[in-house]
Amino acid sequence: MTSQAPNSPQGYKTPVGILGVGHFVPEEVVTNQDLTKFVDTTDEWIVGRTGIRARRRARPDQATSDLAVEAARRALQASGTRAEDLDLIIVATMTPDCPMPATASMVQHQLGASKAGGFDLNIACSGFVYALVTGAQFVASGTFQRVLVVGADCMTRLMNWKDRSTCVLFGDGAGAVVLGPVEPGYGIIGVHTGVNGAGGPNLTVKAGGSRLPSWSEGVNPGDYYLQMEGPEVFRFAVSVMGEAAIKALENAGLTSEQVALFIPHQANARIIEASRKRLNLPLERVFSNVEHYGNTSCGSVPIALSEALEQGRIQNGDLVVLVGFGGGLSWASVALRWGGLSNS
Ligand code: ACO
Repeated sequence: MTSQAPNSPQGYKTPVGILGVGHFVPEEVVTNQDLTKFVDTTDEWIVGRTGIRARRRARPDQATSDLAVEAARRALQASGTRAEDLDLIIVATMTPDCPMPATASMVQHQLGASKAGGFDLNIACSGFVYALVTGAQFVASGTFQRVLVVGADCMTRLMNWKDRSTCVLFGDGAGAVVLGPVEPGYGIIGVHTGVNGAGGPNLTVKAGGSRLPSWSEGVNPGDYYLQMEGPEVFRFAVSVMGEAAIKALENAGLTSEQVALFIPHQANARIIEASRKRLNLPLERVFSNVEHYGNTSCGSVPIALSEALEQGRIQNGDLVVLVGFGGGLSWASVALRWGGLSNS
């Protein structure tokens, strides 16, 4: 196919869509009540300011790749894809198992994806949607037929459990999708990405990189933890989430009125509600599970997508919009027409 498919973003030769989705969250549930035992907070404060009631925590022996592999297996099964048929694996994460090798290489090995290439992508909580945009390019160009995109994070590993302004917000989890060719008019029909580095200092993990290596003098234990200017990030998120959705829709020649389900990054129920109002969507057209998992960073959007499908909230032909935002400060959005699965 050489001409651009109808409704595909400019430059797509082959329409590309999601063939299957899966997610995995660790077993341990940490409730707000549990947190009150060691940090000065209340269930009322956390629920009122964030909508979060519980989050999951990985076992000490579980790392990000372990969550990623479980989610990936479920996505492979849902899509009817064999691991050995994967061409590429992209793992979006800001909590890799270690700086090197890439988490994608561990996922490739665990899955037995014998012919797949792989790499990690880090743009904080926006990572999964960025990885979706990136992975889609390989299918859209005709380079690859099957691309596994995983979003996975163990955010509890970055928490300072004495900092009540951050430790109540995050949890661990992973979600994955398999991308492949779909019928014209289906799949990803609009994308948008952005980053504003000027806001980067509002959300950081300072140590462990080349600026402040772990062995350097002057590293404080706190430098290994996630630090955040909450109100600044909140203002950024409220302004960017709805706008990013609108940009992806505009890219597809559509408006928010046509959206069947909006799946935003699950960071805070108040941010989700602000974006719902900006997009003028009724409650039933917005998906939220932040109550159960908190902010799982790169896991957030694919876990939400997976649960939305399980709950029958997405039908063939539905217009679905995914939006991520996070450290960077960064954001990314995708508009997609669900379904159109072909046999290729
Ligand atoms: N329990 C009780 N009180 C608390 C807690 C807590 N867990 N945390 C903060 N407070 C207190 C503060 O100390 C402050 O007290 P003070 O007024 O006496 O100083 C008061 O509550 C208000 O604090 P704020 O930070 O102004 O509260 P705010 O209403 O902004 O809510 C929150 C804080 C929930 C963090 C909010 O700012 C937010 O959600 N920000 C965005 C977070 C986000 O989306 N992050 C995405 C990260 S994505 C990524 O890439 C990692």
